[in-house]
Amino acid sequence: MNELNHLAIIMDGNGRWAKKRGFLRTKGHESGALVVEKICDFCILNKIKILTLYAFSTENWKRPKNEIDFLLDLLKKFLISRRENFIKNGIFFNTVGDIEIFNDDLKLEIKKLKNLTKDNKKLKFNLAINYGAKDEIIRATKSLISQKKEINEENLNEFLDEKEQIDLLIRTGGEQRLSNFMLWQASYAELAFTDTLWPDFEKEELQNIVDNFKLKNRRFGAI
Ligand code: FPP
Repeated sequence: MNELNHLAIIMDGNGRWAKKRGFLRTKGHESGALVVEKICDFCILNKIKILTLYAFSTENWKRPKNEIDFLLDLLKKFLISRRENFIKNGIFFNTVGDIEIFNDDLKLEIKKLKNLTKDNKKLKFNLAINYGAKDEIIRATKSLISQKKEINEENLNEFLDEKEQIDLLIRTGGEQRLSNFMLWQASYAELAFTDTLWPDFEKEELQNIVDNFKLKNRRFGAI
C-alpha cells in the first residue's frame, strides 16, 4: 500500500457551482472556503502530513477586480477565523507563492498565523497564493545563483517554497490540466480528476480517491 505523505488539491469549480444556483461567483468561493476545514480534518485523521491547496494563482490577477478583492478579503477572514482551530488541532499554516505582492495588512495576518503555528506537527497546511510553478522555479534559480551554488536537482529543490514531492494531486471541477501548479513537486504524483465542483467535494469522495491511490503501482521510472 502506498503511503500518502503529501496531498495537493486544485480547488476548481466555485464559479460554476454558484452560477448553477443563480448566485454570484463570489458565493461559490465563500462556500469553497468552508470545504477547506473538512479536508484538514480528513488529513489529520488519515495521518497525511502535508496538504497543499491552490487558492490563488499568479494568473488569477487577470480576473475582474471585484473578484480578486473578494478572494483576498476571504483569505484574510479565513486567516483570522481559523486561527484558534489551527492552534488547537496542531496545524502549521504555511504559504507557497510570492506573498510580497500583497498589502501590509494581509501580509501581517499571514505572518502572524505562520508564527503562531510554526511548531505544530500534525499537519503542514500550505496555501498556494500568488503561486505559479514557473515563478517558483525562477525564484529558486535566482536564489541558487545569488548564493553561487551548483545548479543541480538537490540544490534547486532546497530553494523551492515546498521541498516535498506530491504523492497525490486531485483537481475538482472537471478540467484535466495542472494550470501551472507545483510542476516540479508533481513530477511523479498520481493524478485524480473529478467532475465534482469544489464546494460539493465531500470527505467520502476524497476517501475513495485516497483508497484508489493506495493501491496504485508506483514505479518512479523503474520497472
Ligand atoms: C477556482 O474556481 C477557484 C479559485 C480560483 C479560488 C479558490 C478559492 C477558494 C476555494 C476559496 C478560498 C480559500 C481559502 C482558504 C480562503 P473558479 O472560480 O475558477 O471556478 P469556475 O472554473 O467554475 O469558474
